[in-house]
Amino acid sequence: MELYTYDELKNFTDHCRRCPLCQSRNRAVMGRGSLRSALLFIAEAPGRTEDETGLPFTGRSGEVFDRLLSGIGMKREDIYLTNIVKCHPPGNRDPLPQEQEACMPYLKYETLLLRPKVIVCLGRIAAQRIIRPDYRISREHGTFIFRKNVWLTSVYHPSAILRDNTKFSEAQKDFHAVREKL
Ligand code: URA
Repeated sequence: MELYTYDELKNFTDHCRRCPLCQSRNRAVMGRGSLRSALLFIAEAPGRTEDETGLPFTGRSGEVFDRLLSGIGMKREDIYLTNIVKCHPPGNRDPLPQEQEACMPYLKYETLLLRPKVIVCLGRIAAQRIIRPDYRISREHGTFIFRKNVWLTSVYHPSAILRDNTKFSEAQKDFHAVREKL
């Protein structure tokens, strides 16, 4: 099977009109990073800053994410980072199930291109979409399950850490477990 390239896929998302978020977005935000990485991070949806820059995690949450990554000796270039939904939901609300559904083909395709060994869901929305609809992030973060040859886990979303700094050390532990798993 011939796969589309990353650039072709990005071109699809740039012009995507599969859900109403295309009417309010400034830019679609495709995932970024190394397509040779074994490690895929999946967050929720672009925030306001990302909607302006077109790049994932460029706002304050991104700073938290970068601190956690550097704690395990990694940089953005060592991983691939994307979102469930590629366009910013107005007012930063949670992406609706039908918006998530409409965007899934892009995420599936990114995963196909990457073929990761470990997938880390950043926050509840991603974990409930990728791991299990009734996933409880406060109880289950940092635990792993093995599905279709890939290890799946979750960590707190960086914006949850910004709201409650005590979660930072738990996220650090979870990042170390991810490093070990790799
Ligand atoms: N929050 C997310 O879930 N994703 C981003 O890219 C930025 C903020």
